[in-house]
Parts: sequence; structure tokens; C-alpha cells
Amino acid sequence: MNLEDHINIIYKNTYLNENINFLDLWKKVFQKIYPNNKPNFNDPGWMKRINKSFFLSKYFLSNIGMKGDVLECGVFKGFSSLLLIELEKLLNKNVINNYFLVDSFEGLSEILEEDKPKKKDVFRNQQGNFKTNFEDVEKRFFEYENVNILKGWIPNIFNVLDENNKYKFIHIDVDLYQPTLDTLNFFYDKVVEGGIIITDDYETPLFPGNKKAWQKFMFSRKISYFALPSGQAVMIKK
Ligand SMILES: C[S@@+](CC[C@H](N)C(=O)[O-])C[C@H]1O[C@@H](n2cnc3c(N)ncnc32)[C@H](O)[C@@H]1O
Repeated sequence: MNLEDHINIIYKNTYLNENINFLDLWKKVFQKIYPNNKPNFNDPGWMKRINKSFFLSKYFLSNIGMKGDVLECGVFKGFSSLLLIELEKLLNKNVINNYFLVDSFEGLSEILEEDKPKKKDVFRNQQGNFKTNFEDVEKRFFEYENVNILKGWIPNIFNVLDENNKYKFIHIDVDLYQPTLDTLNFFYDKVVEGGIIITDDYETPLFPGNKKAWQKFMFSRKISYFALPSGQAVMIKK
């Protein structure tokens, strides 16, 4: 049995609610973001991505009725942002949340000691990896009125946001130690009660800095969180 069969066993008949088939939505969003690519379901990396998208979607749905904005730090071409926006559209017909999508679009910032994998043979990311064309990303989101794309470096770019904004859902996917820590420091106190913060790379050998920053923040504030089987970590604010 190949990996694609396993993906189908787990997800083919998995619904995010009574009407929304998870794998159909995932494929639709993938096609919009990567019209010239086909996902290779027999590559273990894709299984990981699908698992992460599933958990991200479930947590997003869990407090969707609450008031508050949605923020993603680390957008790249927009896949995970679009997944959430399309999910809300399926539920509400129109997008009602305000979305803030933050990225340098110039790729990763400086790689610090904290970000370097211990094992010498692990592939090492470099500053500038994940650079992407900003105008293309903007175009992808033109049709959504409530989507604000912020181009700039974390944390400085955060200063353009209205300081009174309150957030109900934050997805951190910046891979690295410093921008993860900066994001938590800047936004944690702006998260509403019942609001959720989820980070993508808690258990990613390529990006050990994400977990270090997450733990540093959560331990220093004595916040409990949950490490997901997908490699993400999530906290719900009390
Ligand atoms: C793995 S990608 C995000 C993937 C995206 N969530 C998706 O669904 O495809 C990481 C992103 O973090 C951004 N990034 C890394 N460090 C940053 C920083 N200091 N300031 C702003 N953006 C940063 C990179 O430009 C890159 O687009």
C-alpha cells in the first residue's frame, strides 16, 4: 500500500463539519495557490502538510463564532491563509473576519544559533529562502474584501496594525526563533479569551528555533499548551 492510500483512508471521508469535506477543500486551495503543480501524495512531506492543515482547520473552526481578528505570520504564497479564508467562506458564504497576513515576502530573516539543527547532516535553511513574488500573492487575495496583506519584517511591520485590534486566531509559521518570539511577545496580550495561537514548526528538525522560542515564551508566562501529533503546538487563552 502506498502513502496515498493511507491519506485516503484517513482523510477521504473526513468532514470538517457536516458539509465540508477536508480533502476536497485542501485540493481546491492547493490548486489555487499552485496551479502548475500536482501534490505528490507519495512523498511523506505531503502527509505532514496535510496533517498540519487538518489540525489548523479544526482549531480554526473551534472558535469561529467568536469576535476577533485572524492573523497569520508567515504567509509565503498564501496556502494556509487561503485555506482558512475559504473555510470561513464555505461556512458564512462571505468572509466576515478581518484577516491580517504578515510576511517579508523576502524570505527568512537572519538564521541565529538557535535555528541551526544539531545534526550536521540535516539540510540547513538560509536567509532569504521562501522569497516569493508579493504582487502574485496580492492578486490571489484581491477578491476578498477583509484581507489585509502586510509586507515587511517582523517585528517592525507590526507597528502598522491598529493597536486596539483583538485577535481570536493566530497562526505562526515563520520557521525561525526570533520572529516566533517577537510574534508571541507582541500579540499574546491582544488575544481575546478563548482565542487560539497555533505554531507550525514545534517539532520540525529543520527549524529547531521555533520550539525554543515557543517554550521560552510559554514557560516564562506559565502558559500551558498542547503539542499536536502533527508537529504543531497550540494554546487556547483562558
Ligand atoms: C514556511 S513559510 C510560510 C508558509 C505558509 N504558511 C504556507 O502555507 O505556505 C515561512 C515564511 O516566513 C517568512 N518570514 C521568515 N522570517 C520572517 C521575518 N523575520 N519577518 C517576516 N517574514 C518572515 C518567510 O518570508 C516565509 O514566507
